[in-house]
Amino acid sequence: MKKLVVVFTLLFVSISALQLFGAEKSAALMPYPAQVTFTSDRFVLNENFSVEIHGTPDARLYPAVTRMMYRFVGRTGLFLNTDFLSLKTPAENAPLTITVDRPGKVVLNEDESYRLDITGQHIFLKAVTDLGALHGLETLLQVLDSDSSGYFFKGCSIIDAPKFPWRGLMLDVSRHFLPMDVIKRNIDGMAAVKLNILHLHLSEDQGFRVECKTFPKLHELGSDGLYYTQVQIKEILAYANARGIRVIPEFDLPSHCTSWFVGYPELASQPGPYTIERHWGVFNPTIDPTKETTYAFLDAFFKEMSQLFTDEYFHIGGDENTGKQWDDNPSIQKFKRDNKIADNHALQDYFINRVSKIFTKYNKKIVGWEEVMRQSSSTGTIVQTWREDKVLEDAVHKGYRVIVSKGYYIDLMYSAENHYSNLVIPNDLKLTEAEKKNILGAETTMWAEFVTPENIDSRIWPRTAAIAERFWSSEKVNDVRSMYARLETISFQFEELGLTHKKNAEMMLRRLTNNTDVTALRNFVAVIEPLKEYNRFDKGKDFASYSPYTRVMDVATADAPAARIFQTLVNDFSVSKKTDSKMLDSMQSYLQLWKTNHASLVRTIRVSPILKEIESLSADLSTVSEIGLQAVDAIRTKKKLDAMWVVVSARMLQKAKEQRGQCELMVVAPIEQLLAIARQQ
Ligand code: ACM
Repeated sequence: MKKLVVVFTLLFVSISALQLFGAEKSAALMPYPAQVTFTSDRFVLNENFSVEIHGTPDARLYPAVTRMMYRFVGRTGLFLNTDFLSLKTPAENAPLTITVDRPGKVVLNEDESYRLDITGQHIFLKAVTDLGALHGLETLLQVLDSDSSGYFFKGCSIIDAPKFPWRGLMLDVSRHFLPMDVIKRNIDGMAAVKLNILHLHLSEDQGFRVECKTFPKLHELGSDGLYYTQVQIKEILAYANARGIRVIPEFDLPSHCTSWFVGYPELASQPGPYTIERHWGVFNPTIDPTKETTYAFLDAFFKEMSQLFTDEYFHIGGDENTGKQWDDNPSIQKFKRDNKIADNHALQDYFINRVSKIFTKYNKKIVGWEEVMRQSSSTGTIVQTWREDKVLEDAVHKGYRVIVSKGYYIDLMYSAENHYSNLVIPNDLKLTEAEKKNILGAETTMWAEFVTPENIDSRIWPRTAAIAERFWSSEKVNDVRSMYARLETISFQFEELGLTHKKNAEMMLRRLTNNTDVTALRNFVAVIEPLKEYNRFDKGKDFASYSPYTRVMDVATADAPAARIFQTLVNDFSVSKKTDSKMLDSMQSYLQLWKTNHASLVRTIRVSPILKEIESLSADLSTVSEIGLQAVDAIRTKKKLDAMWVVVSARMLQKAKEQRGQCELMVVAPIEQLLAIARQQ
């Protein structure tokens, strides 16, 4: 049989992207595998589909297969003639054969590679460990396709392995507590895009989130009752382990720990009493590093936590110590003088060094934010960078192993493109290939000032799927359009894992409109984004734990979807011959929709005062869309624009850039581009 073989080398990724963009929704592979060859074969998925397992995987593979089967039947409506797969299921004649050499260990540098071959009759998934097999199952779920004849897998041969062994998501469960179901559904999302580290930021000024038996006032007084019991922690660890994901606990020291001092003020560098911090920012309360009682406390505390958390690595924080409490404490100043400790930086080094010794005793290695870096390296410590690329280079030169978070702060509300274009190892770094091996990978960080269980998924997903591709795939996989096209499919598939990024947005729109028609608000939200960085702090409101996170900016996403499509249209038009009437038609219909949207939204605002804060921004959308329509008309008819009108329009566009309700209108820039094109002709 002659097969038509289409080889998708990395060079062709952008071509496949163009085909996918906006139209075809199938075979959205993300993260994109190391090697993919598609064939013209089709493996038809029908009720006879079943799975057999060979070799010696860890038992976690069996329920993973069952979860995959649930997802297949959920998508297809097929009634499979097969029972749940179990260790006792005989391996005979199943169309999907999984072969695994040995049980995988959920540890750093475990083999996660796999090979997936799909022919017309059979699917073969082979892996050294079941962790690789789990990744292969996720890839198989992404290959499922359909047409009028039914469901099928495209014939292909995929050979895959990660670029980096450390691929993480950090969840700050302290500033806003995240209940168990939020953690679990996000672990499923992580597994779907082959992330393998869940870093839990478990203590902060605003909350201490783990039951501690040795020092129960930590969780009793430091958490408002919002903490994980030890049974729940074990449940999270087991849930993650079943999906090949390590859990790294972080207890952030010596700063960011006001919540510890509510129950144990004697740990602090200034006398109490302390209360749980309710606001956002960087605060002064800091552990006293000069007292032996501090280390006795931390020894007993980490002894208990080292038994609870099973991973070899512990994160000790170490970031953003203001040093203020130390400066204001005469006995700490005396300690520095007596021990020839030059400054607060050196005192923090002393503290980190003492804490490291405790971890060595309990057979743990430590990770810390870049501030834990010292002049000379401490063996085994992993540095997590978050501010400057330079730190990454320095840390590697000093012999540290590094994980990178700079450029992956998803709480800052930058676009998926922004993070996707940020390489884990920037090109201009002066490192040898051998040195680069000490960059273990990266983590995306979900700091939780402005998220709640209701909207956190919409901050993590789908952008983290694009970032996961940056962590897993070659940096040559870098076509932004392809990324966005595939991301749309992946985002929709995430809903079958219970992730709420899409459905909660609709629910929030209903609440914002007071259960009236959401159409106009949805149109508006599709062209706005929340303020980026931490600008939200500065805009007139003092945010706190109990502030509302239910406003328009809380439902808006970092990638205003309609604005992005419109911007792409304008970009394409501006590099074209500028005569394409179909493109002009498309732009015109968007602009027409936005121009008339305000009249409808005003009616909604009248019954829903929570929307008042975006009323003038919505009016500006109408105004700038009218300017865009005039520009499109001028381009179409080659009409010369009136000079006075251009001046007034430019001023209006400028005004429309001002934030309202901590939201920004994302269509102003492309409309300015259109105006510039119209003026140039
Ligand atoms: C950090 O963002 N303070 C690590």
